Amino acid sequence: MEKKNIDWGSLSFSYIPTDKRYVANYTAETGKWDEGKLIDDDKIVMSEDAGVLQYSQSVFEGLKAYTTVDGHIVTFRPDENGKRLYSSAERLEIPPLPVEQFIDSIRQVVKGNETWVPPYGTGASLYIRPYIFGISPVIGVSPADDYQYRAFATPVGPYFKGGAKPIYVRISDFDRAAPRGTGHIKAGLNYAMSLHAIVDAHKNGFSENIYLDPATRTKIEETGGANILLVDQDDTLVVPKSDSILPSITRKSLVYVAEHYLGMKVVQREVYLSELREGNFKEVGLCGTAAVISPVGKINDHGYDIEIASGMDEMGPWMTKLRKTLLGIQEGEIEAPEGWIEVIE
Ligand code: PLP
Ligand code: COI
Repeated sequence: MEKKNIDWGSLSFSYIPTDKRYVANYTAETGKWDEGKLIDDDKIVMSEDAGVLQYSQSVFEGLKAYTTVDGHIVTFRPDENGKRLYSSAERLEIPPLPVEQFIDSIRQVVKGNETWVPPYGTGASLYIRPYIFGISPVIGVSPADDYQYRAFATPVGPYFKGGAKPIYVRISDFDRAAPRGTGHIKAGLNYAMSLHAIVDAHKNGFSENIYLDPATRTKIEETGGANILLVDQDDTLVVPKSDSILPSITRKSLVYVAEHYLGMKVVQREVYLSELREGNFKEVGLCGTAAVISPVGKINDHGYDIEIASGMDEMGPWMTKLRKTLLGIQEGEIEAPEGWIEVIE
């Protein structure tokens, strides 16, 4: 099997159509998902009045396939993405896709695009984007009758330019989630909410926005596309607690790595912006499937710069260890906890 002729090391995080995508359909008439299959066509034809186009009825996931050091193609904890897609769908009145079908679809998409899976050691990976959307017409505000599930794959490089280089972010005056809203699920509407804020952040020289808790605006939550990790002065890994942040699979995995591989103490708790201002954290990072771990070197808080001790030159020691261990597990260099690695072939 010959790999595509791509300069893998220079890929950015952008979309390149690949050969195969998986498609399954749900109709109210049958009351179930069909068995689904791989197709070649990357275009979708649907009603001008489809539920997704009118009321943004869509949920999605993101996960990656890697080539391991011994040449296998693997995915990382796809069952977790399947479960999260299931609960995201339930929250938006979308018929959930069975988790087993989700896992099978990921397997098929990766196998169908194996020539697009970046080789080991290139720093690139195959990003898989599964999603479900309302495809039948709706005009009054209501869920659609019929849905489509798709999963496509695209080879990607680092989400933030420069990969593991520290980034400069800001505290946002916009909110991405509402109290008791949809911040905890992976729905397109949460990202639509963040688009103006991210364009404005980029215009002003910041890589991302840190959102505050929408009820009191005193606690830090997450960024537009990643959770936040902090290391305090006692070398404890602190992860923010909130009902309106996305439960990141990367974060859940890093918490396990911190406790069981690195012997760190981990605390999940509310984190006040005032603690950041007071310099209580020596390292800050963003984590997610796309971001892996990106160190934060500086945080702009309404014109005032909070300088993180690890600085803007390089990643701090704890974030470096966390990142290396997680990538080592994903790429088969470090033994993985039971059930984390799904070997495709
Ligand atoms: N938070 C947001 C808002 C995200 O979009 C993502 C990306 O999926 C994450 C956190 C990280 O989640 P995960 O580690 O499951 O990719
Ligand atoms: C991911 O990390 O998979 C995401 O969905 C984040 C997105 C902003 C690219």
